[in-house]
Amino acid sequence: MNTPKKFFIQTFGCQMNVYDGQRLAALLESRGLTPTANVADADVILLNTCAVREKATNKVYSALGRIRRAKRPDALMGIVGCVARESGADAFKRVPDLNFVLGPQSYHKLPEILDNPDTKLLNIDLGGLEKFDALPPMTRSPAVAYIPIQEGCDHCCTYCIVPYTRGREISRAPVDIMNDVHHAAQTGAVEICFLGQNVNGYKYQDENGTVHRLSELIRDTAKIDAIQRIRFTSSYPTEMTDDLIDIFRTEPKLLPFLNMPIQSGSENVLTRMNRPYSLDLYIDIVDKLKAARPDIQISSDFIVGFPGETDADFDQTMAVAQRVGYINSYCFKYSPRPHTAAAVMPNQIPEQIKSLRLVTLDAALNEIQRTFNLSCVGRTLDCLLEGADKTGRHLVYRTPYMQQTIVDAPAGDTPPTLARIKITDANKASLRGEFVA
Ligand code: SAH
Ligand code: F3S
Repeated sequence: MNTPKKFFIQTFGCQMNVYDGQRLAALLESRGLTPTANVADADVILLNTCAVREKATNKVYSALGRIRRAKRPDALMGIVGCVARESGADAFKRVPDLNFVLGPQSYHKLPEILDNPDTKLLNIDLGGLEKFDALPPMTRSPAVAYIPIQEGCDHCCTYCIVPYTRGREISRAPVDIMNDVHHAAQTGAVEICFLGQNVNGYKYQDENGTVHRLSELIRDTAKIDAIQRIRFTSSYPTEMTDDLIDIFRTEPKLLPFLNMPIQSGSENVLTRMNRPYSLDLYIDIVDKLKAARPDIQISSDFIVGFPGETDADFDQTMAVAQRVGYINSYCFKYSPRPHTAAAVMPNQIPEQIKSLRLVTLDAALNEIQRTFNLSCVGRTLDCLLEGADKTGRHLVYRTPYMQQTIVDAPAGDTPPTLARIKITDANKASLRGEFVA
């Protein structure tokens, strides 16, 4: 085969994968390859994958089926990320023409297959933080820079494959993180989003024994003039320590929006999920956050149909959704995953009941979201430009609560990256607004 020239990459799943996808693209570009959106033109094809639910894994294998038929016969094709780690060598059995299978902590080994295209490369090792040092820096940052501050998760919720695919929790050194933050600020970032599976559990002990926490990273980042907005995701309820709650009071650049998944409103279910917090404790944290930052809003993920979930358990989930008034939330049907404890628990819930509960909770969450969106009409919010819509006549901005806000594109002018926007209309999905001088 000739030296590869073009690469195609498709990313599935969470923000961490979006970040990994950017790093993979930068890695290939540093080797002289250029991106293409057309599989048939590509010399290297990468699927950057998510395994969190069975559907996500199936999606990857169907995409591989389509790509095999469209690609050039000599193109290198592989999967990276969580499905690679989930499937391991089985991936080669399911799709014999795969050339490489690289896990979320070993994708920096990609050059090995470029140098030896006639071999098969399998590496799903948990290399910890090795990839961060091995990867070339990004040349330009998008307006929102996603910066991982830890890898993996130690919470081991019984339904979750992430501790298996991404390994044990390791926090990066503050100096490395702040280098990334400064680099992003110098190359175009105006918003920093710190990433971690358990982001608020960030903890780094340096050689002097001093422990560094997320609140410190936020404070240091806020001192950078170019950075106007800061957020972090995803938070574990009991890791929401007082220093972090307090930083919502003292740091105006920190957005008044927090993703803090509760998963279920039933303490029985939470115990079986290995999320051993009480509802009182969770609500107490929400109340403290509201005291520190009265305009704060919370979003959550929910799982319905977890093994053994009764109608009464589900009613408690419905009640807590109303009580907290979550905005921008997601609910999922429980999906049994390999390498997890809940997959072999008794009393798995029939699909029909899961679907019914999903529709019921979804409707309630949508209604809460619609009410919140309507409450924004008349307010003026500082918003960040995301891009233009398909017609090019409208611009899409994000409010501090991540609501999509549509404004008319100003004729001729370059639109401001950050803008004060008066909200004029709203529905369940988005807001309408106009620039305020
Ligand atoms: N803390 C992580 C959570 C990763 S998984 C983060 O960075 O967001 C994202 C969400 O998927 C979880 O919050 C949970 O609601 C859902 N999820 C995880 N495993 C699941 C499973 N087996 N079935 C259904 N939903 C699941
Ligand atoms: Fe998964 Fe629970 Fe960690 S949802 S990522 S094991 S906090």
